[in-house]
Amino acid sequence: MKYTTDDLRTKWLDFWKSKNHVVIPSAGVIPDNDPTALFHNAGMHPLVPFLMGEKHPAGIRLANAQKCIRTIDIDEVGDDIHLTFFEMLGNWSLGDYFKKEQIAWSFEFLTKILKLPVEKIAVSVFAGDENAPRDEESAEFWQKQGIRRERIAYLDKKHNWWAKGDTGPCGPDTEMFFWVGDGNGPKNFQDTCEDPQWVEIWNDVFMQFNRSPDGKLTPLPQENIDTGMGLERTVAALNGLSSVYETDAFASILQKLSELSDNTENTTSKRIVADHLRTAVVILADKIAPSNLDQGYILRRLLRRAIRHGRKIDISGSFCKIIAKVVIEKLGKAYPEIKQNEAFILEELEREEVQFSKTLEKGEREFYRMYTKKRNKILHSDPSFAGNPLHIDGKWAFDLYQTYGFPIEMIEELGKEHEINIDIKEFEKEFKKHQALSRAGSEKKFKGGLGDHSERTTALHTATHLLHAGLRKVLGEHVEQRGSNITPERLRFDFSHPEKMTSEQIKEVEDFVNQAIQADVIIEFEEMSVDDAKSKNAIGLFEHKYGDKVKVYSMGEFSKEICGGPHVGNTGKLGKFKIKKEEASSRGVRRIKAVIEN
Ligand code: ALA
Repeated sequence: MKYTTDDLRTKWLDFWKSKNHVVIPSAGVIPDNDPTALFHNAGMHPLVPFLMGEKHPAGIRLANAQKCIRTIDIDEVGDDIHLTFFEMLGNWSLGDYFKKEQIAWSFEFLTKILKLPVEKIAVSVFAGDENAPRDEESAEFWQKQGIRRERIAYLDKKHNWWAKGDTGPCGPDTEMFFWVGDGNGPKNFQDTCEDPQWVEIWNDVFMQFNRSPDGKLTPLPQENIDTGMGLERTVAALNGLSSVYETDAFASILQKLSELSDNTENTTSKRIVADHLRTAVVILADKIAPSNLDQGYILRRLLRRAIRHGRKIDISGSFCKIIAKVVIEKLGKAYPEIKQNEAFILEELEREEVQFSKTLEKGEREFYRMYTKKRNKILHSDPSFAGNPLHIDGKWAFDLYQTYGFPIEMIEELGKEHEINIDIKEFEKEFKKHQALSRAGSEKKFKGGLGDHSERTTALHTATHLLHAGLRKVLGEHVEQRGSNITPERLRFDFSHPEKMTSEQIKEVEDFVNQAIQADVIIEFEEMSVDDAKSKNAIGLFEHKYGDKVKVYSMGEFSKEICGGPHVGNTGKLGKFKIKKEEASSRGVRRIKAVIEN
């Protein structure tokens, strides 16, 4: 193999260091205060406040490899290109250099560091619309580097405009493609850009706008560069491999699966197990346990799907821990938090695997119970029925799926073994109905969130710090943030605590926060090293996100916490703080929803 994932990651980080960038560690995969997404899905995602003008403690030139999760294409996993977890290499200019430098460096990295022949490279630039002009500027910079005019395509918004979601920072981009077919590829890129042998390997976004919820674009206070290179995909392309699953990222995992399974054929299931367990390990490394809520629920689904496909390839006995160890070994060096949380990861995997095996057993039992009952009933009234296939309605199959988490594929398999016809169409109808309901739910959730930094969400973010401090004061120092999610209406805060809070404790925490608000203290931040922050007793688990230097926000004597910001100017801006709900989130983690009333 010409390039491994470790090689490319190292080359990337070294290159940007040589261009005076600070390499920042990957953030976790769970966004801190963005209600519009369950997981970080791009390298820029944790950097949104800084792209919008907040000062980043590490400076204005940054680079990293970021752990990303995209579950939208989960059903495609197992083909050649789809993954639920991937690493994104990125570099950023926060209001520093812009198009000219970025294009020159992109060209240098591709042709000098990766030594790709320029004949096999093509690029696309934005064709222009009412928001931004046709990007002749970038086209010219590319030509100056040596990209021939015919290898530059002008593409529309669908291709060459990048936005994190419906709101937030966005802008036109220029994308780089590498020809993986025979020879040097077609001369003209505009006409051939849809050919899958042109693999997109890098995207340079010119982040200049902020999109508000009403769809309006306003210029950002600064012109940023945000770039992303999918690590696994690029390594596959550089090595001339047709699939990400053939890269070293998966080699040891698939090898272990082959040792555990006699089945040498079922590559799709093997790939699904490999992908899902990789993702599960990464989520678990953020101290998220399987649950029925949000990220915990996605984690549970990934694990259950992996376990089911493990059975399909005839792995007997439990295997999640065995595979997880291989994943930890592979990713633990680049992402030390994965290695550090090994014990938690393995423990939770075991628990879930045991529990789900029971679910499968229960589902099977229920299946047989119903099957026997139905068959006996028919035979009772019509003895001549013996030997005929039994019909099972899809609604029943759906209930089995819903109630026991018993996967439809297993219901189908059992059906085949026992000559039972299952009305799959009807099942799918029920399934869609249910999906439509939950989609409506998540859309509502999406619309509720701004993902912006309006005064209201900023105030709730400030309130979150005070709540965190109050919880530690009232409940004890074991309280650590496990997640935070803010919409304009409310804050939601997950924290480690083993039991339900009493109403007295809730009241005490509320009083603490309201006292801080009444005291109307100034909120200020100081930049310092992580060690200094620790010695000053600043709290915050997310220091690994910012690199060596961190911002510590102080609110008088009430709170001192590591955070990227932004916050309101003084606590008096908040209004009255009220805890609306305190409930379990997952094992050992409680969840508070709170509001500020004006
Ligand atoms: N944020 C851009 C992407 O994810 C670079 O493609």
